[in-house]
Amino acid sequence: MTREVATLEWIGDVDGNLRILDQTRLPREVVFRECRDERAVWEAIKTLQVRGAPAIGIAAAYGLCLGMKLAPNDERGFFQRLEEVTSYLASSRPTAVNLFWALDRMRRRADTLRGQPPEVIRKALLKEARAIHEEDRALCHAIGRWGESLIEDGSGVLTHCNAGGLATAEYGTALAVIYEAVAKGKRIHVYADETRPLLQGARLTAWELKAHGVPVTLICDNTAAEVMKEGKVQAVIVGADRIAANGDTANKIGTYGLAVLARYHRIPFYVAAPSSTFDLQLPHGGLIPIEQRDPQEVTCPFGIPIAPEGVDVYNPAFDVTPAELVTAIICEKGVIRPVNSDTIAAVLVGAADNFQGPQAALKSSANG
Ligand code: MRU
Repeated sequence: MTREVATLEWIGDVDGNLRILDQTRLPREVVFRECRDERAVWEAIKTLQVRGAPAIGIAAAYGLCLGMKLAPNDERGFFQRLEEVTSYLASSRPTAVNLFWALDRMRRRADTLRGQPPEVIRKALLKEARAIHEEDRALCHAIGRWGESLIEDGSGVLTHCNAGGLATAEYGTALAVIYEAVAKGKRIHVYADETRPLLQGARLTAWELKAHGVPVTLICDNTAAEVMKEGKVQAVIVGADRIAANGDTANKIGTYGLAVLARYHRIPFYVAAPSSTFDLQLPHGGLIPIEQRDPQEVTCPFGIPIAPEGVDVYNPAFDVTPAELVTAIICEKGVIRPVNSDTIAAVLVGAADNFQGPQAALKSSANG
């Protein structure tokens, strides 16, 4: 990927459309799709054409704008349609909280304009969606700046799934840290887990890093323990789909196993995510809804049958890593370390007591 390839782009004005980069076609083809209504956006999210927590939120915000093109002009009908489209888009995937965060923000914006003509509200909604999109770019760059100081020159860094530019407005979360470290002149070598069953690591992360000229070695998921044992990995860094108030973190299935391995090998395990990925309503990660996906993704990956027909399959898309295994969370406001309800609340609500900037964080021991 070059930085010019936009994961998501709104084309036109209030009657415009959403253009998405179809991530299911990567790395073989770079194909863009035009979404002209909310159903196309729902489908794109559900089928992972658009994926990654922040990108899902941005797509949903634009999806609401598309859905409101056909809203009735009377206020009651307009707001009823707003509710319908919001609930519909919210049903696309359950785990990434950015989806619900973005839709809620859009709905609240519309609420402030009750009494205004529909075209005024529609314009304001598009402006809000654009703001969510634009802000995400800035958040990702801030995450990169905070996180890079945690990565030492010469490090091997292991990542899982894709938490790069493809999963965000641009630059990424976990990969932003790596891009920033490389931009600072550090020599970094990335180990990318292939990430069964949908291979976001192999298809997307390896592609994205190669395009940015970052040295990357693709490994099967079950090779992670071995590369750690061989001393090739000095840090693990992943993204997140939802972080509970106590720091328990939902991310792509396999993340929890990596955190356990990292603890055993005394390797720091970092989570990088914007504040829109935190769900402070949930006291712990046991309450995070975990998406269950089609068994065919496991038995028949990319159309190739590999398992006996009718075999029982368990295919959760995400798992939850307990906060105690997370060395630090990097968000746009700084580095949260140690990870617990107090430090998270302190950083997210702005109090500075438990906040450690990158310099302070560096001085702490690797596993907190
Ligand atoms: O199922 P996916 O591909 O949407 O899962 C994505 C992840 O798990 C990412 O790590 C997470 O959304 C963070 S993206 C910055």
